Amino acid sequence: MEALTHGATTDCPEATEYLPWTDPRFRADPYPFYARALAEAPVLRDDFDGSYVLTKYEDLMHYGRLPSVRIAPEWEKAGAWRVLRDMALGNDEPAHTRLRRQTNKWFTPKRVREWAAVTADIADRVLDRIGPDGLVDGSALAVEVAHRVVCEVMQVEADGVEEVRATMRRAMLILSARPTPEDHADAELAMREMLRGSAALLDYKRANPGDGLLDSLLAAQDRGEMSASEVLMTTLFFYVVGHMDAGYLMASGLHLFTRRPELFERFRADPGVREAMVIELARYDAPEPVITRTTTEDLVIRGVHVPAGRSLRLMTGAANHDPDVFDNPDEFDFTRPPEQSRNLTFSFGNHGCQGRLLAEAEIRVVWERIAARYSRIELAAEPVLRNTDASRHYYELPLRLHR
Ligand code: HEM
Repeated sequence: MEALTHGATTDCPEATEYLPWTDPRFRADPYPFYARALAEAPVLRDDFDGSYVLTKYEDLMHYGRLPSVRIAPEWEKAGAWRVLRDMALGNDEPAHTRLRRQTNKWFTPKRVREWAAVTADIADRVLDRIGPDGLVDGSALAVEVAHRVVCEVMQVEADGVEEVRATMRRAMLILSARPTPEDHADAELAMREMLRGSAALLDYKRANPGDGLLDSLLAAQDRGEMSASEVLMTTLFFYVVGHMDAGYLMASGLHLFTRRPELFERFRADPGVREAMVIELARYDAPEPVITRTTTEDLVIRGVHVPAGRSLRLMTGAANHDPDVFDNPDEFDFTRPPEQSRNLTFSFGNHGCQGRLLAEAEIRVVWERIAARYSRIELAAEPVLRNTDASRHYYELPLRLHR
């Protein structure tokens, strides 16, 4: 440790001087704040809890992948979300791989092509409900489609979408640098409801077996490969995560199409650019712009001594706009060369999002089904967003779709 920290400084700018977590301007549009941190202070310390905050793409990729930088201790501190210690995302190796392997087969490129067809059918049914005035809440549409798709993967009923959405809104507030005691209390209640709901899904599957994701989890439990708690928490995660970030990006893209109609025209006209538009949107507007880890040994990051046992806040949303990697980072530019389209929105390394291909396909297909029926998208009223510093949410996106 002596050698490692030799010459390092403990001086480090305070995080909130650059990233004022609770400031409504930061929560609405963090990108100017990220730009200043990237330029002036790529390592920050948050005096509130002693955590360190990194923004540079290169630093996230390097320090986020060190074997000594772990995920499990973070979930211990995550209030109601500590339940994730019993699923893949809450574990380091070797438990992580054991758990992740149980759900891999549902998200291969081949399976995702099947889910894309399922998504198209579901999106068509939801779009059939829109009247001749073309009015629709784009965020509700997005969330409903994403939720129904994940319910197909799990082979469970999809009628609880509004309930799941409302419960998740309460539970997500604590994924922040500054959760309040009230947020924590509410998240505990929300989590209790979600656990009850997830247990009911498993009871339903025991009584109505099939060949979906939950059936394979129950079979793994019967073979002794997963504990009952691991099956329950994995079920909870898939049931609630399905609609959130994919729904956010679907809505964010529809919102972008209202501001930049030429992009929607291009999307309609040219199937060859559609995937690139989805990937660029994920870079441009990350739904959850931070992931967290814990150091288990002392590190020196850009000359700053970071002791063992501290949280690292890895600002993926900032790294996605790092000017050392992306030209004109604040521009939406779907023609970026491949080396500039590597976003960190879906995390990286072992914990890289297992649902990434599914989410990207869902977003593209929903926009495609809209593009097949409508030629223009307009805002019908101002959208309502409720963001924290760590997760972004459309509550309402009133749209008018024109044929
Ligand atoms: C746009 C949509 C999505 C985004 C932006 C997203 C983002 C993420 C991120 C950032 C992580 C890792 C967090 C960390 O490293 O601390 C993650 C993990 C994960 N995501 Fe997603 N996700 C999305 C959609 C989905 C969907 C639709 C599913 C499944 C139906 C899914 C399943 C998972 C799983 C299982 C993990 C845990 C992987 C592991 O720990 O090995 N995600 N996601």
